[in-house]
Amino acid sequence: MADHDTLCGWGNQAKVAYFLANADVIVPRRAEQLKLIVELMPYSHDASISVLDLGAGFGAVTEQIIERYSRATVNCIDGSEAMVVHATKRLRNYQDRVTIMQADLAERSWLGVLERSAGTEVSRAQGVNFDAVVSALAIHHLSHERKRELYREIFRMLKPGGMFLNNDVVATPPALKVPFEALHLAAIQEQERSLRGITRPLDQIAAEMHEQLRLAGGQHHSHIAPLSDQLAWLVEAGFKSVDCYWRYLDLTIFGGIKEPAG
Ligand SMILES: C[S@@+](CC[C@H](N)C(=O)[O-])C[C@H]1O[C@@H](n2cnc3c(N)ncnc32)[C@H](O)[C@@H]1O
Repeated sequence: MADHDTLCGWGNQAKVAYFLANADVIVPRRAEQLKLIVELMPYSHDASISVLDLGAGFGAVTEQIIERYSRATVNCIDGSEAMVVHATKRLRNYQDRVTIMQADLAERSWLGVLERSAGTEVSRAQGVNFDAVVSALAIHHLSHERKRELYREIFRMLKPGGMFLNNDVVATPPALKVPFEALHLAAIQEQERSLRGITRPLDQIAAEMHEQLRLAGGQHHSHIAPLSDQLAWLVEAGFKSVDCYWRYLDLTIFGGIKEPAG
């Protein structure tokens, strides 16, 4: 068992409620990223694909997948009870296509939770296999060693030809810390203006962001890995076509394909 908060604050109901209410504003270019994740998945819209959403939160990515792929089924994993409650509510109209499970990705035991999940394609008898594994803003909460191990676990559970897409925060080059933060705050200010019609001072927005980081705990920052390391871990896990497909400041969508053997 880990001796720190492996959810980096996401067990806190107030933090969860804040993210639910504000994700579209506080994540620069959030809508673009959610849209691109589903557009990058190399499947036809009527394909019966089976997808796993890791750190699914309140179901924003899953909802996009379910709406875009009319015959897709999605298994959601998240460690936060509060998030699972919100996802269950948000995705209630898709109960026949979505399975929501609570498990801690920091522990290998999450695989057992997935395997025990009844009525999905992941029973032991059928083997764990998905056409795609996706994740948004979640894997950076894990230690580097656990990320590396998780990428190997993901590779094993993908079908040949399957794709992994990780929409996540990566480490900021130290020399660019100040401009990245300034651009980040300006992007939030602009999204707030366009979505809510209000313009708050940048220092007020900065104070709010720092408070959210404080709730994430001391571990949070040390867990954010450079993109180059993460791409190397994907290659090491066996992925091909490994690349960063989209990037804005420290936000990325990267991943790879499990090529069919032979
Ligand atoms: C910023 S939210 C993103 C949620 C969702 N993917 C989205 O984009 O809206 C981060 C999510 O990662 C989950 N998470 C963080 N650490 C986790 C862990 N160790 N195991 C499982 N889930 C975790 C949190 O509970 C939270 O739902």
